Parts: sequence; structure tokens; C-alpha cells
Amino acid sequence: MKVLITGASSGIGKDLTKLLINKYDELVLVARNDERLKLLKEELNKIPNKRIIVIALDLSKFENCKKLFEEHKDIDLLINNAGFGDCGYFEKTDLDKDISMINTNIIAVHTLTKFYLAEMLKNNKGHILNVASIAGFMPGPLMATYYASKSYVVKLSESIREELKHKKTNVKISILCPGPVKTNFEKTANVEFQISKASSYDVANYAIKHLNRFYIVPGFKNKLARIGAKILPNFIIAKSVYKVQKKRIH
Ligand SMILES: NC(=O)c1ccc[n+]([C@@H]2O[C@H](COP(=O)([O-])OP(=O)(O)OC[C@H]3O[C@@H](n4cnc5c(N)ncnc54)[C@H](OP(=O)(O)O)[C@@H]3O)[C@@H](O)[C@H]2O)c1
Repeated sequence: MKVLITGASSGIGKDLTKLLINKYDELVLVARNDERLKLLKEELNKIPNKRIIVIALDLSKFENCKKLFEEHKDIDLLINNAGFGDCGYFEKTDLDKDISMINTNIIAVHTLTKFYLAEMLKNNKGHILNVASIAGFMPGPLMATYYASKSYVVKLSESIREELKHKKTNVKISILCPGPVKTNFEKTANVEFQISKASSYDVANYAIKHLNRFYIVPGFKNKLARIGAKILPNFIIAKSVYKVQKKRIH
């Protein structure tokens, strides 16, 4: 059994990797930072009878996503986890960073999901886990691009899930929607979460235990937030997200 994890060099992706090594014989680990990937490989190599392949690749580039798929088509579980955020007033955030975020959080997830879904359907087996966020269920003032990118992941996956229901297939799709998690995310996004943060280990562990679900929402508060996002009008949610986010930005 072979798993492909993007964004495996740190945070949630790294913990998913460490937990999934018990279930999979082959692990393909992708991120940009070659050094961190090699250190992880060294650590994982201590476990016998496993094949660890690390690939330093910038997934914000379409040709890299294509190359990755062409070199590793036979994947049983694809985890589209690589992603990052940014914060600030929309007109002030850096456009290059916005575009890179859209390319990583949306285009790479879209591309890899499309390639692997077709392959999995051909073989009538496989599972795609897209890492979205609780942010994907609501508008996100002061983190507009990030929230919108995760909303794309949620809507894309919900639509694919319905399409799969109408096919006789064993292929599955799920979305992982965490709230704040203690990782490098805050540093990259220039935010500081004021509320309590889950550990990336707990989030990864929860995800693996609940992989049979479509919506994987770790934590009681996040489950409540998802219900709130369903019930309350968007303008009220936007108002409260603004208040929370305003306290977080540097
Ligand atoms: N932390 C949170 O509060 C939180 C909450 C909800 C959802 N999430 C989502 O969880 C996922 C993992 O984030 P994290 O919290 O674990 O943050 P993290 O520690 O910063 O990990 C992000 C991972 O994505 C990789 N990555 C980023 N851009 C990439 C690119 N262009 N090409 C390839 N790899 C790339 C990073 O590796 P390199 O830098 O080596 O490329 C790193 O391995 C993200 O999709 C994030 O949006 C996080």
C-alpha cells in the first residue's frame, strides 16, 4: 500500500506521515524543503521494511504536479495537505504571496485531485484526503484569500463526493477541517492565534481514525463553529471573524 503526502516536511503533514508509516509500506513525501524531508526520511528509515521516497518540489507550479503524478501514479491514499495562509487587509496583502497561495492551496489540490481521481476510478480503488480548514465554511475578513482558498477545497470535494455516490466505485474522498493548530502556519501567515491550539499530532491522529468519514472536523469547538456557519447568516459570521482576526494580526 502506497500513500502520497504533500506538505510532509512539517506540522500536520509530518505527523500524518509518522502515524501512517504503520499502515503503509511505501510513502511518497513531498514539500519544498529538501533538508527537512531528508531528516524525516532518516528518522523513518529506522522502521524496517518501508520504502520512503522524498521529493523536494514546489507544488505551486503546475508542471511539478504533473511530474509528480506521472512518476507516482499508483497511490492508494493521496493527502493534499500542502498549504499556507496570509493575513491583513485584502488591498495590502502581497499579491505575489496571494497568487502563490492560490496556486498551492487551490490549483495544486485541484490538479492532483483530478489526476489521481481519474487513475483511482480506473483501478476502482483509492482515497483522497483534502486538507481544508474550518475556515472553508465561512467568510474570512483579514485572511480573505486563505479562507476563500479553503472554501474552494470544501466545495470541490463536496461536489466530487456527490459524483462518486452516483458511480459504482470503491474510490472515496474526505476533507479534514481543523481549527487552529500549533504548526509553522502562524509564522508563514503572520498571525498569532489567541485561542487554544490543537497539537498537530492530535489532529493527524483524529484524521486517520476518522478517515471513513467525509467531513473530518477535529475538536468540539470546531464542530460547533461548523454548525454556527450553517445556521447563521454570512454577514454575522463575517463580523465575528473580523473581530477575532483583528486581534490576531501583527
Ligand atoms: N495550522 C493551522 O492552524 C491549520 C488549520 C486548518 C488547516 N490547516 C491546513 O493544514 C495544512 C498543513 O499546514 P500546517 O498547519 O501543518 O502548516 P506548516 O507546518 O506550515 O506545513 C505546511 C506544509 O506545506 C508545505 N508547503 C507549503 N507550500 C508548498 C509548496 N508550494 N509546495 C510544496 N509544499 C508546500 C510546507 O513545506 P515546505 O515549506 O518545505 O515546502 C509544509 O510541509 C495546510 O493546508 C493548512 O492550510 C492548518
